[in-house]
Amino acid sequence: MEQKSFFRLIFLIVTACFIISFTSTNFSHSPSSTTLLLDCTTTDSSSSPLCASRNFLFNKKPRPIPKTDPKPTKPKTHDHVSDTPNHPLDPLTITELNKVRSILSSHALFASRAPHALHSVVLEEPDKDLVKKWEKGNTLPPRKASVIALVGLDTHVLTVDITSGRVELEDSPVRVSGYPMMTLEEMNQVTLAPFSNDDFNRTIISRGVNITEVNCFPLSSGWYGKKEENIRVIKSQCYSNQGTVNFYMRPIEGLTILIDLDTKQVIEIVDTGPAIPIPGSTNTDYRFENLATKPDKTRPLNPISLEQPRGPSFVIEDNYLVKWANWEFHLKPDPRAGVILSQVRVHDPDTRETRDVMYKGFVSELFVPYMDPSDAWYFKTYMDAGEYGFGLQAMPLVPLNDCPRNAVYMDGVFAAADGTPFVRDNMICVFESYAGDIGWRHSESPITGLPIREVRPKVTLVVRMAASVGNYDYIIDYEFQTDGLIKAKVGLSGILMVKGTTYQNKNQVKKDKNGNEEELHGILLSENVIGVIHDHYVTFYLDLDVDGPENSFVKVNLKRQETEPGESPRKSYMKTVRNVAKTEKDGQIKLSLYDPSEFHIINSNKTTRVGNPTGYKVVPRATAASLLDHDDPPQKRGAFTNNQIWVTPYNKSEQWAGGLLTYQSHGDDTLAVWSDRDRDIENKDIVVWYTLGFHHVPCQEDFPIMPTVSSSFDLKPTNFFERNPILRASPNFEHDLPRCGAEFVSA
Ligand SMILES: *[C@@H]1O[C@H](CO)[C@@H](O)[C@H](O)[C@H]1NC(C)=O
Ligand SMILES: *[C@@H]1O[C@H](CO)[C@@H](O)[C@H](O)[C@H]1NC(C)=O
Ligand SMILES: *[C@@H]1O[C@H](CO)[C@@H](O)[C@H](O)[C@H]1NC(C)=O
Ligand SMILES: *[C@@H]1O[C@H](CO)[C@@H](O)[C@H](O)[C@H]1NC(C)=O
Ligand SMILES: *[C@@H]1O[C@H](CO)[C@@H](O)[C@H](O)[C@H]1NC(C)=O
Repeated sequence: MEQKSFFRLIFLIVTACFIISFTSTNFSHSPSSTTLLLDCTTTDSSSSPLCASRNFLFNKKPRPIPKTDPKPTKPKTHDHVSDTPNHPLDPLTITELNKVRSILSSHALFASRAPHALHSVVLEEPDKDLVKKWEKGNTLPPRKASVIALVGLDTHVLTVDITSGRVELEDSPVRVSGYPMMTLEEMNQVTLAPFSNDDFNRTIISRGVNITEVNCFPLSSGWYGKKEENIRVIKSQCYSNQGTVNFYMRPIEGLTILIDLDTKQVIEIVDTGPAIPIPGSTNTDYRFENLATKPDKTRPLNPISLEQPRGPSFVIEDNYLVKWANWEFHLKPDPRAGVILSQVRVHDPDTRETRDVMYKGFVSELFVPYMDPSDAWYFKTYMDAGEYGFGLQAMPLVPLNDCPRNAVYMDGVFAAADGTPFVRDNMICVFESYAGDIGWRHSESPITGLPIREVRPKVTLVVRMAASVGNYDYIIDYEFQTDGLIKAKVGLSGILMVKGTTYQNKNQVKKDKNGNEEELHGILLSENVIGVIHDHYVTFYLDLDVDGPENSFVKVNLKRQETEPGESPRKSYMKTVRNVAKTEKDGQIKLSLYDPSEFHIINSNKTTRVGNPTGYKVVPRATAASLLDHDDPPQKRGAFTNNQIWVTPYNKSEQWAGGLLTYQSHGDDTLAVWSDRDRDIENKDIVVWYTLGFHHVPCQEDFPIMPTVSSSFDLKPTNFFERNPILRASPNFEHDLPRCGAEFVSA
């Protein structure tokens, strides 16, 4: 019976135990009385009447919505005020940020009348060799802050020694094009800026829109020439929030407001779309309380969770040092990158050493170009890390839904524009995950006479954050496997940036005399709503140090080899050809299905017992490459996406793929520019850059909010271990996993 096996599958999927929350123990009734939560860690499941009860899988009534959560699941927050740094890479503490602020308050740079603000205050990481030499118990290297300040239109990079109070100005002001990422304060102020302009109010009113029902949203302007020269500007697009919280679906199309980012004054209002109606609010809401009340024929899902009866098996030492299974790494929140992983090391069960894999890994930049060249759309080519701050946009994660119950949360401690520290709660979560997958297995067929059934469940450790950059939500996961693999995963969700149109149906779209439809630059998703085609690129910085910093990049090319006449009944076979990259140009990789390669990062000074160099490989998965012209202004700024892989020699100043200053940058300080120096990369401390891309041609299912789309890439050990490192992994046993859910019963 199909349904039966489906439900059996659900049971197999959940290793630990189900948490059941429901309104009554009485399955024939569902009065909206109290909500019971069964917690495996506190309840003896075998004696609980709930655990022994028959399930309510077949209770088809929709789940009632609790008015308030009877048992809040908000994890404990800890008081950061007394935090002290314990590791050279620990982020700046509240005390340290306050000190930096007070040191800078008397600095000459900020004495002038020119407007000034701190656009970034983060730890100035000590040099790599100092960090590597440091051991627990040693005194910390001098604690320093790296500060990016804007004074007038000049960007200054300062290093503040927190102990001595000394301030060093580096190559000041910075000579590359562009400005630092916006501050949260600026974004807030720009949101309100249009409303202080008479013309704006008049335009809105003339559109028949109630001015109190308008939301304007700051959109980085990119760089296209004159309008963006010698001034910091931002554009604003407005929406009607009348009748919906999902105002993004109600664009006031064609209205673009150009704003001076410093004075917050409106420079120009362009309205190309008075004839375009504002799409309606019908069906745009996505909130549970407004959607869950109507029953439909879908079989309701019972609550599901990931539980560990004996608690998590990882620890977070000294606030930031994660240790789990064979892995250990330093994890910290960052206002620009979101999450930074450092000193990622793995335990080798054969040699009993803890071996270096990656010194530092993070999201370096994003590039999100929209594919509509019209006035209100051409500039929409965002760089979400360098312009908006990927970490600044990471909102608190929602327990039980963003991360399972067994998750542990980490807060971000960042600085506001005046240097005042603030805490971003629950910005990162860490949890062990089990998705019902298999780590390895083997069964023997009866013909061998061997009664073998060996299977190991695949349990991983996930580090997660979710950034909401305006309408869009990006979920970033770093997933560690016990077999030595690290998976970097990007999930896209949130709300589309849509365009208003006069069309309500495809059949209205104009055709030319040859029958070709007018170019809509997207797909009609609902009446008067076009989902505009766009791309997402997420570029990762991966300073791999496989068994130490000196590594080489090897392209292992897979090639067809023809056999000699008479050599074999076969005409051809596939072989590998290894090419060690000598310089940066050899490390610029464009992926190709019909000219495949593996991409190894090896340590040629360290070999396995049988003589293979130890290594890791970058394993691309579904991805996309930009089709824009390389001379198109946004693509020049986003030139770091011109290849999927780049390899550069380690340089502390080259970490942000779109340049240190990305806002209105011209593309003169990108990864592409650095890589064109063609420096030596063989047997050097190298950094690998991988870009994960998505083409997004929207479809109706993306309205009014998008189901998550994911892709990923792997860093996989390749001749790094002597043999399968998870041979000794333990299987699951029934007695280890108390069943606190209901039993499966056939309908
Ligand atoms: C369960 O249902 C029966 C009727 O079938 C009713 O008498 C009883 O009070 C209900 N119990 C609860 C706890 O709602
Ligand atoms: C524009 O309208 C808003 C909302 O009514 C109001 O607060 C603001 O003062 C108006 N701006 C001007 C310049 O009149
Ligand atoms: C505009 O919207 C506000 C808030 O929803 C409401 O109080 C007011 O009556 C509206 N004005 C008009 C003219 O519709
Ligand atoms: C590593 O090997 C290369 C040759 O492959 C050699 O030139 C270099 O000196 C070696 N480095 C160390 C630290 O042994
Ligand atoms: C390090 O990077 C900076 C910024 O790109 C550059 O100016 C400098 O020349 C680089 N140093 C080396 C040794 O490549």
